Amino acid sequence: MAQLDAALAGTFAIGGELEVNRLGFGAMRITGKGIWGPPEDRDEAIRVLKRLPELNVNFIDTAESYGPYISEELIAEALAPYDRGSVIATKCGLTRTGPEEWHQLGRPEFLRQGVMTSLRRLKLERLDLWQLHRIDSKTPRADQFGAIADMQKKGLIRHVGLSEVSVDDIKEAQQYFSVATVQNLYNFANRKSEAVLDYCEKEGIGFIPWFPLAGGDLVEGHEKARAIMDKHGASGSQIALAWLLKRSPVVLPIPGTGKVRHLEDNVAAAAFALSDEDFATLDAIAKR
Ligand SMILES: NC(=O)c1ccc[n+]([C@@H]2O[C@H](COP(=O)([O-])OP(=O)(O)OC[C@H]3O[C@@H](n4cnc5c(N)ncnc54)[C@H](OP(=O)(O)O)[C@@H]3O)[C@@H](O)[C@H]2O)c1
Repeated sequence: MAQLDAALAGTFAIGGELEVNRLGFGAMRITGKGIWGPPEDRDEAIRVLKRLPELNVNFIDTAESYGPYISEELIAEALAPYDRGSVIATKCGLTRTGPEEWHQLGRPEFLRQGVMTSLRRLKLERLDLWQLHRIDSKTPRADQFGAIADMQKKGLIRHVGLSEVSVDDIKEAQQYFSVATVQNLYNFANRKSEAVLDYCEKEGIGFIPWFPLAGGDLVEGHEKARAIMDKHGASGSQIALAWLLKRSPVVLPIPGTGKVRHLEDNVAAAAFALSDEDFATLDAIAKR
C-alpha cells in the first residue's frame, strides 16, 4: 500500500501565511442522508476525524449547514482544542429546510449569527478560514461583503473564502477584503471553473475543488489511463486526486467520506506524483 501521509502532497499557505498540507478532508459526509441529521455510524465518523491528524491531514472543510451543525459539532468533539494543528475552514450563507434542501441567505445578521455560532460549536476564538457558502442574489452584495469585512476587522475571522463564484465575483469581493480561497465544483471530468482556477493561481488564492473524486470512473474505463493506474498501483479516484494535485500548486482537494477505509484510500493519493506526460495523457482523456 502507498505511504499514508497527506504531507506528501506538499503545502499551501492560505492568505500567504497559514500553511496546510494540500490534501485536505471534506466533512460534509459525516452527516445523515441528504446532509441532514446525524451520520448513520456516529462512532465511525468520530474515528474518521481522529484519524486525520495521524495521517497529517490538517485542512478540514465544513459548514454550519452540514447537518445542520452536526459536522461542526463532531469536529469539535473529536479534535478540539486542535493541539495537532488542524485548520478548520467553515462556511455560512445557506439555510436548510430539510434533507437536500438548501437556500441562499446572505443577510448580514444571518452571516454574523453563522460566524458567532460556528465559533461556539467549533470551540474557537477565531475562525482560520470562513467562506461565504453562496453569494445571495436577493441581498445587496455590498451588505454581504461589508458584513464579512467588518467581522474580519473585529478579529472573528482570520481569512475569508468564497464558494461557487466567477472571476468577476472574486474581483468585486476583493474590493472589500482579501480573498484567500475559492471553493468551486471542479474535478477531472468537470472543468467549468477552469478560468476561475487560472485566476486563483495568478492571484495566489487557494482553489478548493469540491466533488474532487468525480471522474475516477472515466479514468478506469480507458486503456491508456489503465496503464498509468497500474504503474502507480492506484485506483481511478486516486488518479483523479493526483491529477488535481498536479493541475496547480494552489489546488487543495477535500475528498469527503464517513469511512476510515475510504479516508485512507484517498490520503494514499498524496504519494502518487504524476509525470508531465501522464498528466497530459489523462487531460486529453478528460477533454474528449
Ligand atoms: N462549496 C460547496 O458548495 C460544496 C458542495 C459540496 C461539497 N462541498 C465540500 O466538498 C467536499 C467533497 O465533496 P463531495 O463529498 O461532494 O465529493 P467527493 O469527496 O468527491 O465524494 C464523496 C463521495 O464519495 C464517496 N467516497 C469517498 N472516498 C471514497 C473512496 N476512497 N472509495 C469509494 N468511495 C468514496 C463518499 O462516500 P462514503 O462516505 O461512503 O465514503 C461520498 O459519497 C465535501 O465534504 C464538502 O466539504 C462543498
